Formats: sequence, C-alpha cells, structure tokens
Amino acid sequence: MKIDILTLFPNMFEGFIKESIIKRAIEDKKVEINVIDFREYSKDPHKKVDDTPYGGGAGMVLTCQPIFDCVEKIRTPESKVIIMTPSGIPYKQKMAYDLSNEKHLIIICGHYEGFDERILSLADLEISIGDYVLTGGELPAMVISDSIIRLIPGVINERSHIEDSFNDNFLLDYPTFTKPAEYKGMKVPEVLVSGDHKKIDEWRYQESIKKTKEKRPDLIN
Ligand code: ADE
Repeated sequence: MKIDILTLFPNMFEGFIKESIIKRAIEDKKVEINVIDFREYSKDPHKKVDDTPYGGGAGMVLTCQPIFDCVEKIRTPESKVIIMTPSGIPYKQKMAYDLSNEKHLIIICGHYEGFDERILSLADLEISIGDYVLTGGELPAMVISDSIIRLIPGVINERSHIEDSFNDNFLLDYPTFTKPAEYKGMKVPEVLVSGDHKKIDEWRYQESIKKTKEKRPDLIN
C-alpha cells in the first residue's frame, strides 16, 4: 500500500514514520508513506496557500490551486482521496478494515479555518476522528494511517486484530495480565493459569462482552 499525505507541516510526521511498528512496516515494504508539502505546488510568487474568506469572517481558508494541482499530479485510477475534517463521517474500525484493502490512499490535511469548499470535490471520503476540533488534519491523518497500517497482513501478529472485531461488532479487548501472578494482593484470574486454552478463549470472549456492555454499551447492538 502507498499512502501520500498532503500537509503544510511535514515535520509533524517525523516521529510517526520513524518509530516502532510503522517504521518496521515501512522497512519491510508493507507500506510506503510519502509526506508531501503541498505549499511546493503553489503558483503564488510567495508560495501562499491560503486567503481570507469571501463574505468576511475570522481566519484564513486554504485555496484550491495548490491542493488541486498536487492531487491531480499524484492521483491514479487506483487512488482513494480522503480529506480529514471535523465535518466528515465519524471514523470507525470497520472503515480501517475497508481502507486496509486499498492500494493507494491520498490523505489531505487541512489547517487554519478550513478548506475552500470546492476542494471537497476532490475527495472520495471525508473523515472525522471525533466530535472535537483540532488545529489541523495532521494528527487525524496519523490516527487513521496507524489504524490502517496495523491491519495490513504481516505488519502485526494477525491474532491481535482478528480479536479486535467480531462479525462487524467492535468489542473492547478482554483484560490481560502478566507476571507476577499476585501484585499488592491483586490476583490474576485462575482460568488464565489453568493451561486450558478452550476455557481461556471462552473466558476472554465473555469478558470482552462484559467490558463492552459496562464501558461502551453503544457498541453492542
Ligand atoms: N481536523 C480538525 N479536527 C478534526 C477532526 N476532529 N477530525 C478530522 N480532521 C480534523
């Protein structure tokens, strides 16, 4: 999979691509990530990428030209163009699964007061990562990229994400424990040290349901 991220703040992605699982996925060629500074596409003599809103109002608005030129240059028939915006569809694990099957994602990060509305015509998908407003689309782009990349076969242990989902219902993870078997009087559940894997699987599944009902009843339908 190739992910092209269009941003005015490429340095924000340094840590994201240079650490841990994402770094390894890039090294193993499971994913290629290109962080593109779309200011470079501006035809303005001062490389301007924003302007004041028609009709007045606070802040600056991203102009069409640099983003259109950049997307039109890198887009192919296989590309899926995503715009990160608080007015997009709320992001869910199911979307991460669907997007992990794509060959090429182009993710556009806004900044300032927002985009010229005509930029939305470039997008196949507008995504929000939650009902709050961030200073830009960079963190949301990292959030969705991370959730997608970990689902690419071979990036992490498959079992880890098979357990994330159950028939499209997203269940919270079951409780996990490591050594010691007792800490400050708190004991690891007996079943986990029983060695009976059928019982352990059943316990984990039931605990997942219990935890989801307690903490996120909205996820159970
Ligand atoms: N840009 C600013 N806030 C955002 C959000 N909540 N989701 C996606 N993009 C955003």
